[in-house]
Amino acid sequence: MNILIIGQGGREHAMYHSLRQSDPEGIIHVLPGNGGVPLEDCVPLPMSDFEAIRKHARAHQIDFILVGPEQPLVDGIVDFFQKDPDIFVFGPTAQAARLEGSKAYAKEFMEEFAIPTAQYRTFTEIGPAQEYLHRKEMPIVVKASGLAAGKGVTVCFDRQTALLAVEEALSGRAFGESGKTVVVEDFLEGREASIFVVTDGEDYQILGTAQDYKRVFDGDQGANTGGMGAFSPALIVNEAIMAKVKSLIIEPTIRGMAQRGTPYTGILYVGLMISSKGEPGVVEYNCRMGDPETQVVLPLLLTPLQEVLSAARDRKLGKLSLKSRSGFAVTVVLAKEGYPGPYAQNIPVTMPVSQQAQVFHAGTARNDQGLIVSTGGRVLNITGVGATLRQAREEAYDFLTKYHPEGFFYRNDIGLSYI
Ligand code: AMP
Ligand code: GLY
Repeated sequence: MNILIIGQGGREHAMYHSLRQSDPEGIIHVLPGNGGVPLEDCVPLPMSDFEAIRKHARAHQIDFILVGPEQPLVDGIVDFFQKDPDIFVFGPTAQAARLEGSKAYAKEFMEEFAIPTAQYRTFTEIGPAQEYLHRKEMPIVVKASGLAAGKGVTVCFDRQTALLAVEEALSGRAFGESGKTVVVEDFLEGREASIFVVTDGEDYQILGTAQDYKRVFDGDQGANTGGMGAFSPALIVNEAIMAKVKSLIIEPTIRGMAQRGTPYTGILYVGLMISSKGEPGVVEYNCRMGDPETQVVLPLLLTPLQEVLSAARDRKLGKLSLKSRSGFAVTVVLAKEGYPGPYAQNIPVTMPVSQQAQVFHAGTARNDQGLIVSTGGRVLNITGVGATLRQAREEAYDFLTKYHPEGFFYRNDIGLSYI
């Protein structure tokens, strides 16, 4: 397979690394890529320009496109390439990607197929939304229905916050068009885990599970972020819970999407809340791999990623025997001070060679002089792998104690309470 990965984060660097390990010589390009991907494999084109992507793919005999982020999928990159029989784009069509692109759609879908999730109502006007909030108990969760770069959800512990959240969203001030429909949903108690499902529309395999850390500081303090670390597999998902997740959530989702005439293919990311009684509920669907969860799921995968992808393309997932290492992986995000607020950019990132931990680049790029500089708040992801969670943690944190550049920070407690 000649593969083009779309994206520029730690997730895409981890995908590149995984694919490269089983194919040292082949064509594996990343568009646009980042400072961690060898320059000769980076394609400096915008992710939104599907026609330019097509030209590049044709010129380099690319036959498989793996899409990292949600936006191109929601914008219909799979549909766009359906006219090119020689180029397979792995992922859901725009209609199927609505499971992530429209939370109102996802909730209505789950309701129809009786998939466990929080009770909800959808609103497009401030008055009725606020009236509903006056009748509800707190806490409550207000969600912009459309894509909002991970910032569209407000967990509201008091009514004032909730009233303001619906007003900010529905007025268009907070999230533009994405907030003009709002889902108001009951607060679910429990612990969160993410399940990554690969599906060809009919059969599926569990690629992996993870728990991630969204708050910026140790002890889950401070603002929400895109994720400060993760570990895999998710320890809170035991066998009994996984059996429920499959029969109550994954299978009805795949069946339901097929029944609606919009079969779901690609990666389905199921974000779960697991209650103290062990009952799973869906917090969100995403139509792609997680970031930084990919950086812990893929290092544990023993089956070459190419095999998984081609089985999905050829509708042979049912026959694939997918193998993962028995140990654990932990990833720790090295972020620029200030993140998730404003932070300095274009800071040179001097990279030591790691003997053990795997260093994935997230927000880095090469500048005009070829130097690697930081371009985002989350700059590097340090992944350790070990037979135990403790060993995996040690591998990642040993690296960070030796390499801790000034002006950067990380959380010290990724996976800590589980060892
Ligand atoms: P999302 O952007 O959909 O991942 O939501 C961000 C975070 O909000 C989730 O990871 C949860 O921690 C929290 N959240 C979303 N929906 C709920 C809910 N119904 N109950 C409790 N927490 C929620
Ligand atoms: N780490 C959360 C996400 O990828 O949406």
